[in-house]
Amino acid sequence: MSDARQTIEALLDEQRRFPPPDGLNRRAVVGSGDVYREARADVLAWWAKQAERLVWRRRWDEVLDWSRAPFARWFAGGRLNVTESCLDRHLPEHADRVAYYWEGEPGDRKIITYGSLHAEVCRLANALAALGVQKGDRVALYMGMVPELPATMLACARLGAPHVVVFGGFSAEALADRIADAGAKVLVTCDGAWRAGQVVPLKATADEALSRAPSVRHVLVVRRTGGDVPMLPGRDHYYDELVSAHPPWRPATECDAEDVLFILHTSGTTAKPKGIVHTCGGYLTYVTTTHSMVFDVHEKDDIYWCTADIGWITGHSYAVYAPLANGTTSVLYEGAPSHPDKDRVWDTVERYGITTMYTAPSEIRTCMKWGDSYLARHDLSSLRLLGTVGEPINPEAWMWYRDIVGSGRCPVVDTWWQTETGGLVIAPLPGVTTTKPGSATLPLPGVAADVVDGQGRSVAPGEGGYLVITEPWPGMLRGIDGDEERFFETYWRRFSRPEEGRWVFFSGDGAKRDSDGYFWLLGRVDDVMCVSGHRISTLEVESALVDHPAVAEAAVVGRSDPETGQAITAFVTLRSVVEADDDLAEELRAHVSRKIGAIARPSSVVFADELPKTRSGEIMRRLLRDISERRELGDLTTLADAGVVQDIVERAKAGRAATG
Ligand code: WTA
Repeated sequence: MSDARQTIEALLDEQRRFPPPDGLNRRAVVGSGDVYREARADVLAWWAKQAERLVWRRRWDEVLDWSRAPFARWFAGGRLNVTESCLDRHLPEHADRVAYYWEGEPGDRKIITYGSLHAEVCRLANALAALGVQKGDRVALYMGMVPELPATMLACARLGAPHVVVFGGFSAEALADRIADAGAKVLVTCDGAWRAGQVVPLKATADEALSRAPSVRHVLVVRRTGGDVPMLPGRDHYYDELVSAHPPWRPATECDAEDVLFILHTSGTTAKPKGIVHTCGGYLTYVTTTHSMVFDVHEKDDIYWCTADIGWITGHSYAVYAPLANGTTSVLYEGAPSHPDKDRVWDTVERYGITTMYTAPSEIRTCMKWGDSYLARHDLSSLRLLGTVGEPINPEAWMWYRDIVGSGRCPVVDTWWQTETGGLVIAPLPGVTTTKPGSATLPLPGVAADVVDGQGRSVAPGEGGYLVITEPWPGMLRGIDGDEERFFETYWRRFSRPEEGRWVFFSGDGAKRDSDGYFWLLGRVDDVMCVSGHRISTLEVESALVDHPAVAEAAVVGRSDPETGQAITAFVTLRSVVEADDDLAEELRAHVSRKIGAIARPSSVVFADELPKTRSGEIMRRLLRDISERRELGDLTTLADAGVVQDIVERAKAGRAATG
């Protein structure tokens, strides 16, 4: 049995042990609902109709050009600039409508209307153009959750310059790699960001990164936390000074539907992150449509809050592009949910009268752990729809979200998707789809997903398999920046039959379907972990560990964690001269934080004399996963030296006490 297959079996076992609560409405809705029928009847006509949601300068000639599959061209020949859909079209009638209620962690607030956002975006686009940014040039962003972040993304889009946003929690090295990979000419950053009462020194980290990223010629610095930051004359400019020197109007650069809108790096099964490419027409059509349908958007009376950091795809699609294109009023919050107290989230919901909330299961579990008393302090009656994303939601957290946060009144939409899919793929339609706790339910109208075995055949209900998407969709990634081969290998090779014209996208996730056709996500089946909804590659953490002079070899696995979904366990062998102790374990954790960022810090480090390997020398991660999950160990026959396993089991048990 393959590693991935065993992972699926283990995950299914886990689900059998923790079945969802009873008492659900079991009405099957597969195939019901006019929208599903309409989309199925003529899927390209369906997407063409959805594309009408955008402002086009020139209509497309062809809805989908799939002649170079798996490289798709959606709305081929169409011309647009996405900022005209996100901003200009709301003016002048809705210039005063709020685009963002922004709140800083210390409690400072700003109201950003569609009119003021438009003006800011134009000023900044003028400023960037004056610095030499042209259509096609890449601009990197390394910022906190400030209003200037969406404004900068849109200013890039206004110029047709792809943005490359790097999450503000990444290290200097991770930032340098991403800037270099994309060849960005300009970096926009902040002096610092507020997080849990502390200043995150973004500019200092950026300076460190820039010493290794020579492509950057100009740096814009948003003043957020104040205080002195070193500014390099000629290279560094204060954002506010540049922006105020330019007029609040700039015509949008006309782009092709398939021009690159942005690149966003994500972790895969190698140590090097992949730059996922999304383009203008298909992406915006897809996120706008799915946002409108799944979040049941009503422009006038909704106050919508997507809590994701804009540094991840959820923030790109559902805190910036889709809500703006739909004319939604959003809340944007800078800091930690526990600051100044653990009721910050509920306080925010009450003060803004939030109707629609979209967050990650880890956040829900954390709030659940903090206790209902924090909710009880606030009136949450404005809420009408609750969404989750990023990792499987356990039925217990789902029920708490629905019954305690939503008082049993609000539908819960569990949405499955990925950086690669651009937008939601499997999710219920509120009012149409009957939900079940723990299931993301059904593929959205116009999307075709399946669960298949190793040979690509659909599996029977209840059986686990690989989650695949069998038809192209407008939000699909257009490639991995600069690496066609890897794009093909990672997503398409495994289940496609090019000779039969059949192209199947492999998600990297395991799933099963129940007898109603509902999808139940089982987690990743590759070397990717999902920690607090953040996607982290085991290989990236391993290569950070072996970079430490004390480490000889490292193998990293994700183990289930009741709060963060998965937690990182590192199995490490040392160079002979070094002593294994708690201080070293702590140093290794800190080393990974420095190399990648705090999100990748292992929660436990287990020292071993040797790692279990096959006779061909491959580390048996499956076995390490079983050890860290305290599962019965599977097949040991391929192991080169069975003796090493017992030793690791003992140390893992002891090592669990020494976690941090
Ligand atoms: C996981 C985040 C279960 C999955 C939008 C996927 C989920 C990875 C869900 C993508 C969900 C996302 N239920 N698992 N509702 N949503 N995932 O690229 O493993 O950061 O492959 O995109 O998160 O993570 P990414």
